[in-house]
Amino acid sequence: MKKLLKQLTETFGPSGYEDEIRKLVQTELEPFADELKVDALGNLIARKKPVQPAKNTKKIMIAAHMDEIGLMVSHVDENGFVRFSPIGGVFGKYVHGGRVRFLNGVQGVIGYDRFDKVNEAPALEKVFIDVGATSRKDCPVKIGDVAAFDRPFVEMGNRFVAKSMDDRVGVLIAIETLRALKTTPHDVYFVFTTQEEVGVRGAATSAYGINPDIGIALDITPAADTPEAAKMEMALGKGPCIKIKDAGALSDPRLVQWMIRTAEKNKIPYQREVLLFGGTDASAIQRTRSGVPAGCISVATRYVHSPSEMVDASDLQNTVRLLHALLRAPITLE
Ligand code: CO
Ligand code: ZN
Repeated sequence: MKKLLKQLTETFGPSGYEDEIRKLVQTELEPFADELKVDALGNLIARKKPVQPAKNTKKIMIAAHMDEIGLMVSHVDENGFVRFSPIGGVFGKYVHGGRVRFLNGVQGVIGYDRFDKVNEAPALEKVFIDVGATSRKDCPVKIGDVAAFDRPFVEMGNRFVAKSMDDRVGVLIAIETLRALKTTPHDVYFVFTTQEEVGVRGAATSAYGINPDIGIALDITPAADTPEAAKMEMALGKGPCIKIKDAGALSDPRLVQWMIRTAEKNKIPYQREVLLFGGTDASAIQRTRSGVPAGCISVATRYVHSPSEMVDASDLQNTVRLLHALLRAPITLE
């Protein structure tokens, strides 16, 4: 699992530019999926058919987003300094001294105009990318070119650190679950969605197309186990977080109960998640067509949307175990 997570997180795929990461995921899935297709927005849809369709067969959509936050060139000045428009939630506090890599291979360092207030992160308008150019003419990037953060994967004890754990961790869990799922009574669509970070766009169109009975997003969630973090439950190493609420969706309470029952029956550690902000693909699935019962399973992650997001290895394994247990048996929602 570690080797694949390293590969997934070291691949570049900002929202709207998911080609490279999609190719990697597609190669991993080919031997296991009954059907594979890519829709108009670039969502990769891998279907696992039921052994035998029956009355209690449910059409289930599992969504993990392939895209990551990034930057797009919006201006190059006469000295070759590059200004950018953020793709998704890029925070000024995390970027100074960071490095980015453009899809054309060019690398850059992020600088700030001035630290007027040393203890405050500047607004993104005060932030630029230095690509080593000396003039607009010799600048190797142009308006509209796209970059993502550049940081290698590292292992620290039981923890893994990399850029884009959000949401390559979800991608990994979906791949591993499909691999482990020899048979299922359900018609399962594993969807590797696009453009989540700019407003759950890929999940919206793919959910419309699939028209599922149940939707489950797989994503990361900010851990609150560091000194003086917000008062929330989520911690590294304590098992998958079963989402009850975030700013984007209220999980269907019947799905929450089904997830908790299944975790307890299979002795899988879990955490009850109420996230005070944020949202996932579940919010788009839930509101598609005339509505879909939806929920989310997330992995507690530290330093979310920084180039060094940290997760715990045991949480990844336990999340695969939980999703596998949910998908292999008939479902009763009550
Ligand atoms: Co995110
Ligand atoms: Zn995410």
